[in-house]
Amino acid sequence: MNSKTVAQLLSQDVTLQDVSIKGWVRTFRANRFIALNDGSTINNIQCVVDFENFDEALLKRVTTGASLHVTGELVESQGKGQSVEIVVKTLEVLGDSDPETYPIQPKKHSFEFLRENAHLRTRTNTFSAVMRLRSSLSFAVHKYFNENGFNYMHTPIITGSDAEGAGEMFKVSNLDAKKPPLNEDGSVNYKEDFFGKETNLTVSGQLEAETYAMSLGKVYTFGPTFRAENSNTTRHLAEFWMIEPEVAFMDLAGNMDLAEDFMKSVLGYVLEHNKEDLEFLDKRLQDAEKKLPQAERSPMNLIEKIKFVVDNNFKRVSYTEAIDILKNSKPNKKKKFNYIITEWGADLQSEHERFLVEKHFKCPVILFDYPADIKAFYMRLNDDGKTVRAMDILFPGIGEMVGGSQREERLEVLKEKMKALDIPEEELWWYLDLRKYGTAVHSGFGLGFERLVMFATGMGNIRDVIPYPRTPQNAEF
Ligand code: 4AD
Repeated sequence: MNSKTVAQLLSQDVTLQDVSIKGWVRTFRANRFIALNDGSTINNIQCVVDFENFDEALLKRVTTGASLHVTGELVESQGKGQSVEIVVKTLEVLGDSDPETYPIQPKKHSFEFLRENAHLRTRTNTFSAVMRLRSSLSFAVHKYFNENGFNYMHTPIITGSDAEGAGEMFKVSNLDAKKPPLNEDGSVNYKEDFFGKETNLTVSGQLEAETYAMSLGKVYTFGPTFRAENSNTTRHLAEFWMIEPEVAFMDLAGNMDLAEDFMKSVLGYVLEHNKEDLEFLDKRLQDAEKKLPQAERSPMNLIEKIKFVVDNNFKRVSYTEAIDILKNSKPNKKKKFNYIITEWGADLQSEHERFLVEKHFKCPVILFDYPADIKAFYMRLNDDGKTVRAMDILFPGIGEMVGGSQREERLEVLKEKMKALDIPEEELWWYLDLRKYGTAVHSGFGLGFERLVMFATGMGNIRDVIPYPRTPQNAEF
């Protein structure tokens, strides 16, 4: 007996006497054609039953969502739409699915409805394709770093430091929330907490990754990160996965080269290995866009967009140049932006980023050398004394995909910066040690994995590219 996946059977061009397959019913047509899917591919295998030879009561249990074990012969298909099909010899219903209550019926469901049924949504074509692509992309991430001499480092999830200095962290504590131990001044006494200090879920593994880069040379982390920002947008999650490489003796230009090469490599990987899923998602997006006015439709389809990124150089533009472009742009002059750019130093909003990539340059853009005041404390100060060696990579349709920088390697400059921002030296003594003992130029970046999955799948909402999204007021499942 040949026990194979649907993907394996569909790629078979010979007939097979005895095949055995298990999966879930997508549809059962004319009491004769079962479309069975086992998650191995977007495609179903057609199982043909000769209903006269099967018990009617058994066939009644073949409903959408039921799990089946089918055995039979794999033959060339008589019908259109598939090359092979199974002529069923035996059929066993492994698990029934009540058609009255099963939420995933063979019809179009809204993404909102499917989010409420996230435990079953991967039984649809769209979500199974998205999640196979997500899996494939994460494999490509590890493959790229492995082949380029990086060590995979597991940075801690619970930390005592705030890497980004943004303060948007989830506290980790096992103190009694109703009656925490207090200091004399009424503040909570964290010395009595589990770790004997204030701790939180990490917002980034960067600072710890830097310590390993300064011994192992090339490292990366790829793990969950957490932000307690109350951003209810289609691009923000409270729990998301970040890829963070960190490399010793590499400057900002090297960092840009690495980020670009890395992104092209992982996107190239899925173009090669996830063809059917991409073709399906491409068509889905085209159908969805048909409902939009012409001006809002994207000029390229999904696969074209991915190929464009893989085949073309990212545009590298300094913050100062970008501000000039924005200041002189039509939406700025006509006051169409919500935030009008009037002077150098302004933080860029997503409307500005999108203008630059979607309207002006029409390709991925690496913005670099930002004003020091709007960036994190650890970034390398330029000789002009006002900009830092930061870079953000902006993508069409997504906005910011990557944030990174060359790190400040000079002890005194770093100490001064921390002092100005009230970051106590005692908290980051180990981080400062790297600058005391064998300091060196080093750089790295963070790529929001879900934003990459959004780009590669054409999904418009970040909640639809992670199995169980965590957002404000929502932690179901
Ligand atoms: O720009 P960010 O905040 O950079 C850092 O955390 C650095 N420590 C990274 C480093 O240099 N090692 O975040 C990096 C990326 C962003 O560009 C974005 O893609 C993603 O993480 N990101 C989010 N993705 C989903 N939901 C959120 N709330 C995100 N916040 C950031």
